[in-house]
Order: sequence, then structure tokens, then C-alpha cells
Amino acid sequence: MSEQPLPTFQDVLRASRTIAPYLKPTPLHRYPALDALLGAEVYVKHENYQPIGAFKVRGGINLLAHMSDAERARGVVTASTGNHGQSIAYAAALFGVRSTIVVPEGANSVKVEAMRSYGADVVFHGAKFDDSRRHGAVLEREQGMRFVSSGDEPLLIAGVGTHTLEVLQEQPDVEMVFVPVGGGSGAAGACLAAKGVSPHIQVIGVQASAAPAAFRTWQARAPHSADNTTVAEGLATAEPFMLPQQILWHDLDDFILVDDDELLAAVRTYLEKAKTLAEPAGASTLAAALRMKEQIQGKKIALILSGGNISPEQLRQCLG
Ligand SMILES: Cc1ncc(COP(=O)(O)O)c(C=O)c1O
Repeated sequence: MSEQPLPTFQDVLRASRTIAPYLKPTPLHRYPALDALLGAEVYVKHENYQPIGAFKVRGGINLLAHMSDAERARGVVTASTGNHGQSIAYAAALFGVRSTIVVPEGANSVKVEAMRSYGADVVFHGAKFDDSRRHGAVLEREQGMRFVSSGDEPLLIAGVGTHTLEVLQEQPDVEMVFVPVGGGSGAAGACLAAKGVSPHIQVIGVQASAAPAAFRTWQARAPHSADNTTVAEGLATAEPFMLPQQILWHDLDDFILVDDDELLAAVRTYLEKAKTLAEPAGASTLAAALRMKEQIQGKKIALILSGGNISPEQLRQCLG
């Protein structure tokens, strides 16, 4: 179990003030074609329009903004399948901090190039994210940098929760928020924000059935590892993060698994119905809403479209 203090709704409110000078609120759009498809009043939160193309940047800026000068001088190291790494690289550049990002071999080239463009040192290590994560901890010990966990960091969770806070500031009577789950920081932040506004707002987590570690851990209320073979690298973790899990155990209302072919189909649906580019993890919430079509009829729902950093190869797979 994580020893860290759990972040709170107040921390999300504080994060919202901290990130305001650096990030504009992202658009919340409605598309008649999506309403018709789902039989609901659907609001899409466009985190794919963030400067790095994903919601993670909210957490990275909140974390780096709170670091002491001494911590910043050490530099930061982290492991990522892409968007968390981009977030830390982007925020590190903003605050003049050196960053090293460990990524799995074969990481999404669009994300790797973006990290480099922000000045990060990118190190390839291991076949899967979980191998990169272990190597990041080694670099921390060897080089004295500050290791940033992609899940077990209160400031990251509070930072990313601001996406849901923005949804509810604009549409306070949204009844359900659908949020993707990889390590669980985004969903934990969404829970803090939603339950802080009203305990009646339901938060639904969505994970790939081909990487269900967080789902199994949530279901069993105990750590569970699982296979990690999903095409959606944003959702690809084999081991759970226990800090966000503790929040999810308390506050998450439901947890849906979707198959990889549903993720790819949802990317295509976003292109056709909303003229917007989602990566498979970002489209997961649409795939889940389609699965829950009966339960959402007539409801006012928000889908967190968490990112749009799809590689050309993935896009071809979706269209093929
Ligand atoms: C686009 C996208 N969506 C969802 C997630 C999952 O977020 P979390 O790890 O906070 O659960 C990620 C993680 O990198 C991501 O990149």
C-alpha cells in the first residue's frame, strides 16, 4: 500500500489555480451525431487539444510547479509509454529542469519525437512499460535524479483531476463522467473532482481487457498484476499503482473493460462523427459508453477524450 498522503478535492482546486497561467481550459463539445449514436446528451472533453495532445500535462505542470529549487536542480527521471513522459518533459522545460524519460522499445514514435522536442533525454529500455519503470528507479539511484512515478504522486493525481473539474464548472449537472484508466491517476483525479462537487455524479473507469491490472486490483481490493498486451499504450500497465487505487476503491462507481477492436473502432467513430483525432486510450471512454448504451439512455454524460497522439501505423490499423 502507498505511504503517501491521499490527495483531496481541495488539492484539485489548488491545482486548478496552479496550472491556470500555463494551460487554457480545453473545449467541451457536443456532437449531434454522437448524441444520436449513444441516445444520450454527450459532452466530449477535448484533452487531445492540450499542447502535448494529452491530459497528463495538467499533472506534470502541477508537480514541477511545486518542486523546490533543490529538487529541480537534481533533474527528474520517469518511465512512460509516452504521454506521461511528454508531460514531464514539457513541464521540465517550462521550469528549466533537466529530464530523462525511459520508454519501452517500440514506443509510439510520435510521442518519443515530442519528448525529444521538449529537450528530454529519451532512454529506451525493456519490452514493456513495467520494465522501463524498473530501469527508471535504477537511474534515480545512479544519477541522483528525482524519480517521478506516473501513478503514485499526489500532485499528479490532483493536477489531472482538473479535467473533470473543468467539465463540471461548465456543465454542473453532468450525471456520469467516463474516464480512461491505465495506472489510474486520471480516474482518481476525476473521482476527487466529481465527488467533491456532488456525491451523486457517477465516475466510470475504463480499461483495456488486454491490460486489466488496475481493474482486477479495484475489483479484489488488493494488488493484482495482469497481462499487458493492449494496442492502447496509454492503458498499458501490468502492475497496479496503489495510491490512485485507494481513491478508486472508495469513489469509483463502476469499471468497464473494453476489447482492443472496440478501441480501434472508437477511434474511427470519433473521426467520422466528431472530426477529431483520438488515440486508442483516448477513445476508450466512447467504447465504454457504447457498451453501456442501455444504462445511459437520456442521461447527460461526459467522455474524457484523454489524448490524440496516435501514430500513423495505429491510425492505419484503425482505418483498415
Ligand atoms: C491518452 C491516455 N489516456 C489515458 C491514460 C491513462 O491514464 P492513467 O495512467 O492516469 O490512468 C494515459 C496514460 O498515459 C494516456 O496517455
